[in-house]
Parts: sequence; structure tokens; C-alpha cells
Amino acid sequence: MFDTVSLRFCVFLFLATAANGEFAKSHEEYPRFPPNFVLGVATAAYQIEGAWNVSDKGESIWDRFSHYNDGRIFNNDTGDVASNSYYQYKEDVALIKKLGFTSYRFSVSWPRILPTGFANNVSQDGVNYYHNLIDELLANDIEPLLTIYHWDHPQVLEDAGGWLSSEMVDWFGDFARVVYREYGAKVKRFIPINEPTSICINGYTTGIDAPGKKLHGIGEYLCIHNTIKAHARAYRIYENEFKSKQRGQVGYMYSAFAFMPEDPNDVLTAEIAFEFNAGWTLNPIYSHNGDYPELVKSIVAEKSKQQGYTKSRLPEFEPEWIEYIRGASDFLAVNHYTTRLVKPGQSGIVPSHENDQSVVQFIDSSWKKAASDWLEVVPKGFRYILGELASKYGNPPMYVTENGFSDTGLLHDFDRIKYFYDYLKEMLLAIYVDGVNVQGYYLWSIIDNFEWRRGYSEKFGIVSVDFNHVNKTRTLKDSAVWWQTVLAERNLVPAE
Ligand code: NOJ
Repeated sequence: MFDTVSLRFCVFLFLATAANGEFAKSHEEYPRFPPNFVLGVATAAYQIEGAWNVSDKGESIWDRFSHYNDGRIFNNDTGDVASNSYYQYKEDVALIKKLGFTSYRFSVSWPRILPTGFANNVSQDGVNYYHNLIDELLANDIEPLLTIYHWDHPQVLEDAGGWLSSEMVDWFGDFARVVYREYGAKVKRFIPINEPTSICINGYTTGIDAPGKKLHGIGEYLCIHNTIKAHARAYRIYENEFKSKQRGQVGYMYSAFAFMPEDPNDVLTAEIAFEFNAGWTLNPIYSHNGDYPELVKSIVAEKSKQQGYTKSRLPEFEPEWIEYIRGASDFLAVNHYTTRLVKPGQSGIVPSHENDQSVVQFIDSSWKKAASDWLEVVPKGFRYILGELASKYGNPPMYVTENGFSDTGLLHDFDRIKYFYDYLKEMLLAIYVDGVNVQGYYLWSIIDNFEWRRGYSEKFGIVSVDFNHVNKTRTLKDSAVWWQTVLAERNLVPAE
């Protein structure tokens, strides 16, 4: 795969310097990113755009959720203005360019493009906004990576059932077709759905995120079922109607925690945790036979029976859907932030996806914490999960589409630099030593933005945004300056 002489030399150098416990002083000798490796930054529409009700834009589930104003979001913050990128997108692009990133992952807002939720009414203003953004990127030699849907579906579709309804498959497909038709001549890589498992667990199981439905043990399974079908629909629409002309790619996205067994010999617990999380949504697409993993099917069926249900709470794919879904991805998009240790035991509400596993997740108290309560710094987990995904699914082309660290907004953000450095080091080991086929990396996020239920209290940006100022002034943090050097040299400069 990467067995050119120069890459072997890099591996040698990397191992030699890593073995010394520190990297050599000369910049020439720091581990290099592979040639053609994409280094980019990521954002999402609702988190940065603001302009929630301009022109004919429709209401999204996050507009509704944040307007309840009842404490479900920290400080009752909303994305009404956010980082104001609807108006300041040129500034964002200029920053990306200045720092030296060559790709930008962003999402389009479904109700901005389709105000009624349906393809019967395409908003010219909405469509134009993203044309302008994409044109600005291309004029600056920045490759767009477009997420079609990053959690902000139209409220009207939620009222009609949202991800609990199989109708979403068609509605999403219609939206995806509009996106390909409009932008496919300019955009060559698409991700249909951002983090399906986060949507389904936080939105339809625990209800801590929009749309706030608490349907433990039922909601998450129905939701994942429909998001997988909707992803496949979006993939097939591209394949059948656009690919021969536009020659782009469509990839499935997985939000990957690493689950490491407390006891390294506890292969069964590691396997259950992997299959209930990764396998649940990746097996239907990436495995040889398709469908949910046998292990998940049998465990949920058994638990459902014990609990007195007449059938498994895990929905079944019809054979034609298994075929339709299998193989519906050109690259695997992986979001990774953190790790959990796992051991056998009971946890979670009965019934729930969490409880079905009979696995307890916990953390090592020595792990450093970020500002987000779910984010511990565990660099070795990155190499571990990349290796697991590669070996389980035939080493598909992968892009890390999110990775980052939250704090309270420090400009001197050394902990963030250290996080990137340590995680990137593990990623390069996965690439060079383990042969994992990672082709690009996008950090989260270029600018501070609306962090969902945590409002503006947790910051992931390498560029600060002054949310209290009408200009939403952007200021480089130390991590942005560090990245500038990394990008200029294309190697991993130590965090100092
Ligand atoms: C995952 C999500 O895709 C993104 O929207 C969020 O801000 C980051 N992780 C950090 O929580």
C-alpha cells in the first residue's frame, strides 16, 4: 500500500525516534504525512451558520429544540446566530487558506435548501448560499467535502415521524438528489449522514439532543434501521443518476469510540462492544454478507423474548434491502475522539441498546479530561480502533472526518495542541506500521461554534469566536499557529 522507499524511510525514522521517547530536533526528521494525504477542517451548518430564519428557510429540529428555552441546552443558548458564518463564510475560507488546510468538510442545512422539507420547493436563496461557499473554496484551492445532513432535519418531517418513520428514507433520498444535482459538478466527495448512532441514541433514546424523544430500546433500533436505509438510498441515487458524469464518491460515516477490554484476554466482551456499536451500523454496509451482525441479532432477540416482547426489538431487513445496503460506501468516514474500557456486567435502562449488551463501559481515572464530560484523552485508542475497523472490514479507504479537544475557550490552548500531536502520532503509526488505509484527516473544528446541548460552554475551535461581539471576531489560538507549521512542513512538529 504505502511501500515506497521514501515511506519506508519515514517508518524507520518514525520508529527510531519514537523508540527514543522523543522526536529528533531537526524538522526534516519528524514523522511525515503520506504524500497526497488530505489535511482539512470540519464544521456543520447549524453549529456555525446562524441566520436561522432568513429568507424562506424552514424550521429545523434544532431550531425547535433550542427555542424551548427550558434549560435543556446549557444557558438556553441557541444557534440563531452561532458563529454567523452565513454572513462571514468568506472570512472562514480565508482562515482555512491562511492556515494551509486543503480541504473543508461542511454540511448543508436541509430546511435552508428545502423549506417545506420536501423537494417540491427548492429555495433559490438556500441553494445559492452553498454555491457561493463552494465557489469561494474552489477559488482558494480548498477541496469541499460535503455532509448532506448533520442533525438539523426539517421540523415538519419530525412531526411526521422523523427517523422513526421509514418514509424518511424517501424524503432523505429526494433531498440528497437535489444536493447532487446542484453541487455535484463541483463537489467530489459526499457524506450523507453525520454520526447516525449519535442521532439515534441522543435524539431518540435518551432524548438529550433534538428531537428529544426518550424511547429506550425501541427508538434507537428503529432510527438506525431507517438511517442505514436512507444512507443506502442516497448512495444508490448517486451511483445510478450522477456517478458516471460527476465521478465523485459517497461514504458512510461512523462515530467511533474505541472500546478496549479491561482484561486484554476478554475477547468476548471486546467483540460484543464492537459489534453492538461499530457492527450495528457497519456490518450491513461493509461485511461480506450484509445485515446486522449475527451476535447482535441473537442477543437482542433473546433479551426481547425474556422481556415478554412478541418479537425482537431489533427490526429486520428484507433480503432485497440487505442487498441494496451491502457495499453502499466508497470510503469510510470515521469520527473519533475518545475511548472506553469495557467489562461484562449490567448497565442502562431496561430495555435499551446499552442494556442489551450486558457490557459496562468505564474510564481509567488517570486519563486526562477535556471540558466535555464524555471526552477523555486516550491517544492509543485511536490506533486501536483504526486497526479494528481495518481488520474487520477489509481495510477500506478511510478518512478521519472529525477529531478534536474541548476546553472553555483558552487562546493559549496547549492541551489541544498536545491532544492533536499525540493522536496524530497514533494515526501515523496505524498508517505506517499497521498498514491502515487512512487517506485524510479533518480536525474538529476550524472555529468555535454551537456545541449542541452544551451551547457555547465547550469550545472545539482552533480559532476563537467572540460570541459576545456583534462581529463574532475570529482570533487564532495557539493550536492554529501550531497547525500552520505542521501544514507548511507536512510533518508532525512536536507540541512544545
Ligand atoms: C460530533 C459531531 O459530529 C459534532 O457536531 C460535534 O460538535 C462534535 N462531535 C463534538 O462533540
